[in-house]
Amino acid sequence: MPLHVLDHPLAAHIITHLRDHTTKPATFRTLAYQLSLLLAIESTGDIETEEKKIDTPLEPVTGKVLVPQPLVVVPILRAGLGMVQPFTDIFPDVAVGYIGLERDHETAKARSYYCKLPPLAGRHVFVVDPMLATGGSAVQALTVVKQHGATDVRLVCIVAAPEGVTEVERHHPGTSIHTAALDRTLNARKYILPGLGDFGDRLYGT
Ligand code: PRP
Ligand code: URA
Repeated sequence: MPLHVLDHPLAAHIITHLRDHTTKPATFRTLAYQLSLLLAIESTGDIETEEKKIDTPLEPVTGKVLVPQPLVVVPILRAGLGMVQPFTDIFPDVAVGYIGLERDHETAKARSYYCKLPPLAGRHVFVVDPMLATGGSAVQALTVVKQHGATDVRLVCIVAAPEGVTEVERHHPGTSIHTAALDRTLNARKYILPGLGDFGDRLYGT
């Protein structure tokens, strides 16, 4: 299964501070940005480049530059918003679409409340959501982007539970999942263990 878990000392350092319950929202947002930047770099490691001849101050050389290519980042609201800026910072031409999903606190089932997407056909689409718990939200979002024409879709998250990975693979086999951590399991309320709690609440101080 195409599951990619970030393996970098800096990622391990950041995730530990994100997990710490004493970390306050302002620091949490900074750490989420930094980790998402590492994930944005890792999850785009295979995008196309082309050769370009340039002159250094010393001699000519053939380097590589990115082929102009339509990338689309699609955060699942609300927590996914905390992962968008790294993509727009390093890929200034990236388009941004939005899918609003909210888990019911009793059933843990996601309810859709918003969807605004640019054209997705022929583009590299990155669905970003920090928490992959039961996988219900991710499966819905992946279904929606495919209904809008996406064929090349990756899921980028910060913490994934094995249950969510299995659910995504069951409904959308072959989808690449990039995560900073693969955790142990879910608790009875479908929160990730050890996890980091409610990402949206910690990001926005709610
Ligand atoms: C969280 C998280 C995911 C979802 C994961 O969002 O950001 O979208 O739960 O859970 P699942 O894999 O079981 O579907 P939440 O619904 O709490 O909304 P929020 O982002 O607005 O806080
Ligand atoms: N959503 C979160 O924010 N955290 C979890 O552990 C599960 C779903």
